[in-house]
Amino acid sequence: MMTTIREIKKSGRLKMGLSASPFLIALAPALGGFLFGYDTAVISGTIEQVRNKFALTPVYEGWFVSSGLLGCIMGVLLAGFLSNTLGRKNVLVLAGITFLFSAIGCAFAESKEILVLGRMIGGIGVGIASVVAPMYISEFAPAAKRGMLVALYQLAITLGIFMAYLVNAGIAASAEANAEATGWQEVLFSRETWRGMFLMMAVPTVLFIVILAFIPESIRYLLKVGKTIEARNILFRTRSKASAEQEWEALHAYQGTGAAAPTAGFWKRMRFPLLVGILLALFQQFSGINAIIYYGPEIFRKAGVASDNALFFQSIVGGVNVLFTFVAIRKADKAGRRPLLLWGLTGLVVSLFLIGWIFNAAAVPGYVLLCCMLAFIACFALSLGPVTWILINEIFPSAYRVQGVTICTLAVWLAVGLLGQFFPMMLETFGTANTFWIFAGSCLLHLLFSYKYIPETKGKQLEEIEHIMVSH
Ligand code: BGC
Repeated sequence: MMTTIREIKKSGRLKMGLSASPFLIALAPALGGFLFGYDTAVISGTIEQVRNKFALTPVYEGWFVSSGLLGCIMGVLLAGFLSNTLGRKNVLVLAGITFLFSAIGCAFAESKEILVLGRMIGGIGVGIASVVAPMYISEFAPAAKRGMLVALYQLAITLGIFMAYLVNAGIAASAEANAEATGWQEVLFSRETWRGMFLMMAVPTVLFIVILAFIPESIRYLLKVGKTIEARNILFRTRSKASAEQEWEALHAYQGTGAAAPTAGFWKRMRFPLLVGILLALFQQFSGINAIIYYGPEIFRKAGVASDNALFFQSIVGGVNVLFTFVAIRKADKAGRRPLLLWGLTGLVVSLFLIGWIFNAAAVPGYVLLCCMLAFIACFALSLGPVTWILINEIFPSAYRVQGVTICTLAVWLAVGLLGQFFPMMLETFGTANTFWIFAGSCLLHLLFSYKYIPETKGKQLEEIEHIMVSH
């Protein structure tokens, strides 16, 4: 018999045994991850047309591509202050509004300046969402489900990236059929399809803003600003009575210790979490993930794969990225974060080493490279992708969580920018094989570091993790 959402809510449990409300509530901020993935990947399908339309010089083209990233950095810097003053939920709504402005502004841009401005505004939304969405989920989730719920956010990023590939390909493929249309429809979906690609982001954005209206504020944020009664009511509305009582007691005891107040000792309490968080952020990017996400077709062509096949191979890479994130969703709270990280990193080292070896050897068939790339993306999707975001949002003391998450997310975006800039140069200076071996070396270092320093956080309350990290 089918179970309706009402029944689920009534019984308070989903079939998998998870509290219904936190799961449904986590879907809303997770959609922020979808917009993050879509916004960053959509640009790949638009560059060529935009270059021709506005006669972009190479410098302006670089500016068009990197303006989104600049926006991200601004968004990350604003996110901390805004989410501490306006609350997590309101800031997510604000991010949704910037996405909407960006989608419409870019789609109807009459000049390259407006287009760049639109990209930058969208970037601000991505930056804000990348700090606040996983933080909201992490603060809201029951300890036993936190890994899975934050991994949903990563799943949404991968779906957003995949959807952008599909929308770009779909709009490009139907351009001829839409030539018969009139007015804006003809411009958006036939003559200048890049406009349609940007505009499509408005659809999930509207959905995001609407469903945010139905979720409550983060319980830990409410406690932080002294709204104790509201926090308690939300906790009891979104958990079974027994677990709400247990969690409330733990939260209450923690508040009583005074640790929740940002008093003295920032460095003492933050030194180790910051070291771990920043390294996790940098190591995630130095695995070379975005070289494959954004330059994938080029890498396939370099290995002699025909252009059409290269695009097809890239969409398989996008699909595998989505699929293997489910492994993390299932395992993060059962097996734990450490096994995912350690096994995933071992797979990353081996697959990156093999990719390098393929480029070093002569005439290896394209499908062998595809298999190694798929192994790489599968290992990333079940480990570094979700586990990095889970840990970054778990390891900081409550009083400084916003600052800690902001600094680590900033490190992610700076590394994305650095690699975007330097990956083509690395290929030219070191050669393709050595570049992938450098990524393999970075994953090996990450493996050793994680083995020695990353604690297991599954099933623990954030306040318990705080104790482990601070007393390290
Ligand atoms: C990373 C992004 C990456 C994506 C790929 C995320 O966890 O932060 O940089 O593009 O995973 O799935």
